[in-house]
Amino acid sequence: MESILHEWISLFVRWAHIVAAMGWIGASFYFMWLDASLKKRKGLPKGAKGDSWAVHGGGFYHVVKYQIAPEEMPEALKWFKWESYTTWLTGFLMLMVTYYWGANGFLIDREVMDLEVWEAITISVLSLALAWIFYDMLCKSPLRKKPILVFAVLFVGIVAAAYGFQQVFSARAAWLHTGAIIATMMTGNVFLVIIPNSRVVVADLKAGRTPDGKYGEIAKLRSTHNNYLTLPVVLMMISNHYPITFGHPYAWVMVAMVLVIGAVVRIFYNMHEAGIHGKAIMWQWPVVVALGLGLIAFSTWRPDQVEVDFYPTEAMEIVATHCSACHSSTPTHEFFEDAPGDVRFDSLDEIRAHRSKMLAQAVLSNSMPLGNETGMTPEERAILGSWLRAGAPAE
Ligand code: HEC
Repeated sequence: MESILHEWISLFVRWAHIVAAMGWIGASFYFMWLDASLKKRKGLPKGAKGDSWAVHGGGFYHVVKYQIAPEEMPEALKWFKWESYTTWLTGFLMLMVTYYWGANGFLIDREVMDLEVWEAITISVLSLALAWIFYDMLCKSPLRKKPILVFAVLFVGIVAAAYGFQQVFSARAAWLHTGAIIATMMTGNVFLVIIPNSRVVVADLKAGRTPDGKYGEIAKLRSTHNNYLTLPVVLMMISNHYPITFGHPYAWVMVAMVLVIGAVVRIFYNMHEAGIHGKAIMWQWPVVVALGLGLIAFSTWRPDQVEVDFYPTEAMEIVATHCSACHSSTPTHEFFEDAPGDVRFDSLDEIRAHRSKMLAQAVLSNSMPLGNETGMTPEERAILGSWLRAGAPAE
């Protein structure tokens, strides 16, 4: 019963999370485009930075942007904040449902660090808070006058965190937490900086004071970070189903590459939307393709992978010992009434049908057996790997 309940809660929370994230990212892409598309022309109202026209859903839209603020406050003002807050909240719920509720299976890998469940959860929560504090201090430090340097420090900080998480959590949780700290910085920017600053400006306007332009500048720095971090964070969130990424012994190097790829794609769109043509937007896609190929090549470089001699019976024994308690038509594991993911290894045909996924889950990464409950050794993984790569022969 618990496993069925867990599956449903997990599915509903994931659904809510993806829908919220679509709302947030969609709105954020729209505003990035809108900002870039603004044209200054004669006849605009006082204080207007530019305007933009769009056609959508059977009508025409005419949007004017006021830098800092309009002279008078409009009666109705739409704030874009819940898209971001609900994305973070549902994301944190998912972290709880998957990694805290299932801490022994997904968060902790006792070969990496022998943590108690409460210790692992404490580290997880603290890491989110500390990441925000570090990032916020960075943005407020004297470095803020040099945005490129802030980016450089942020980049090194995120990669260092990815490395650090790899020393503490399971590979999958390490990768996910790297995404989670980035997502926390992004929502923190909205919740703790951008919205409060806008409130100050609105209050000033209502009171008839001229708002200070510095609030707009601060918000701009933060929202630029959000812009460049969006694509990497989405990849990190979805790739925790791809052990080819997080299962690598140097997964933190991949994090660095993903950060650069995502940022370069954004550079292209930011320039393109600003109406820049020619050479300035010619280099991004070739660089992204080259980096993408580099990422793939790097993922196949597995210094930890060895080919060993094996007896098929020995390999089948390993599957029976370490996998069959769950992955069978009649699981014996207390938590599972049905084979998880409908993946069963009762026959050689079933094993062969899942060969590449088995390699990904139990050889290229230590994701399976779940939480390594059965204590599968590196030697056993090597034997299983060589056998699977040989096509899982019967003899
Ligand atoms: C304690 C139970 C348990 C054991 C033991 C276990 N698994 Fe799993 N396995 C799971 C669960 C739960 C999932 C679903 C994971 C998820 O939701 O991401 C899963 C999913 C999988 C998948 C599907 C992944 C996908 O991409 O859809 C494969 C392949 C797999 N396991 C292989 C193995 C192998 C190989 C072993 C033995 C070395 C093993 N498992 C041992 C519980 C277990």
